[in-house]
Amino acid sequence: MTEVKNYTHVPVLLKEVVAYLNITSGSIILDGTLGGGGHARECLKGIGANGRVIGIDKDLDAIDRVKGSLKKFEDQITYVHDDFRNIARILKSIGIEMLDGAIFDFGMSSFQVDDEKRGFCFLKDGPLDMRMDSRQELSANDVVNKFSKEVLTDIIKEYGEERHAKLAASAIVRARKKKRIETTLELVSVLSSALGAKYSRQKIHIAARTFQALRIYVNDELNAVEEAVKNTIRFLNPGARIIVISFHSLEDRIVKNIFREMVKDGKMRIITKKPVCPGQDEIMKNPRSRSAKLRVAERV
Ligand SMILES: C[S@@+](CC[C@H](N)C(=O)[O-])C[C@H]1O[C@@H](n2cnc3c(N)ncnc32)[C@H](O)[C@@H]1O
Repeated sequence: MTEVKNYTHVPVLLKEVVAYLNITSGSIILDGTLGGGGHARECLKGIGANGRVIGIDKDLDAIDRVKGSLKKFEDQITYVHDDFRNIARILKSIGIEMLDGAIFDFGMSSFQVDDEKRGFCFLKDGPLDMRMDSRQELSANDVVNKFSKEVLTDIIKEYGEERHAKLAASAIVRARKKKRIETTLELVSVLSSALGAKYSRQKIHIAARTFQALRIYVNDELNAVEEAVKNTIRFLNPGARIIVISFHSLEDRIVKNIFREMVKDGKMRIITKKPVCPGQDEIMKNPRSRSAKLRVAERV
C-alpha cells in the first residue's frame, strides 16, 4: 500500500487556466496531467452535472490520490492511468468523440519531487529511479550505470542543456567503474567533484541540469509532449481551446512550433501572442511556479 505523506501540489496559473478554458455547463474537458488534481477540481466545478473531465496520469499514485480528494465529483470524472501521448486510443476506449477544452501542465508534481523514494530530487537521498510510471523498465539507474560515455554526453547536453556534459559523463563513467552509482546523492557527489569549479559562481544547483536530462530521457518526455499536443488538437471542437503549461525551453519550443504549424494550416488561432507567466505574487507563494509558461490556442 502507498505510504501517505503530507505533501501538497499547488496548481500553477490556476485562475488563468480556468479563464482561458471558457468552461460551460456540459463541457467535456481533458486534463492530460492530473497530478494533484488542482486544475481538474476547478474544471469540475464549472462543468455541471452533465459535463465530464477526463483525467489522465501515467503515475498511478497520482490517480489514487486524486480519486480520494475529488470523491465528491466521482460521477463527473473519468480516471485514466496511461501516457497522455495515447490520447486517440484513450478517447476511443471511453467513447468520447470530441473535446470542449484540454489542459496539459507538464513536468513533475510536488508529490513526485518531494518524495525521495521517486529519485527526482537532487537535495534528498533516494534511489536513482525517476520513472513517472513504475510499470516502465528503464530507470535513471540503468541510464547512469549502463549507457556509454558518448550517449550519456548527448543526453546531458541535449536534454539538460549542460555545457559541461562531457565532463559530467566522464565523471559518471569513472565513478561507476569503482562502484555502481545507486542513489541520487551519490550522483550529486560525482557531479560535484567534476563540475565544482565550473559552478562556483552559478546560482543553479550543480546537479539540476543533469537531473533534468535524465528525467526527460527516462520518461521520453519531449516525444510524449509532441505527440500529445498534436493528437489532442484533432479532437477539439471548433472554438475549443488547448492550454499548455511548460517548465523549460525545450518543451515550450515544441508547443510553440506545433501551434505555429497549425495556424499555417488554418486549423488553430493563437490566443496568447506571448506566453503567460506567473506574477511576482504567485512566485512568492509558490516558487516552483517561477519557470512556468502558459500558451493557449483555439480550434478554428
Ligand atoms: C505538474 S503535474 C500536474 C499538476 C496538476 N495540473 C495539478 O493541478 O495538480 C504533472 C503530472 O503529469 C504527469 N505526467 C507527466 N508526463 C506524463 C505523460 N507522458 N502521460 C501522462 N501523465 C504524465 C506526471 O506524472 C504528473 O503527475
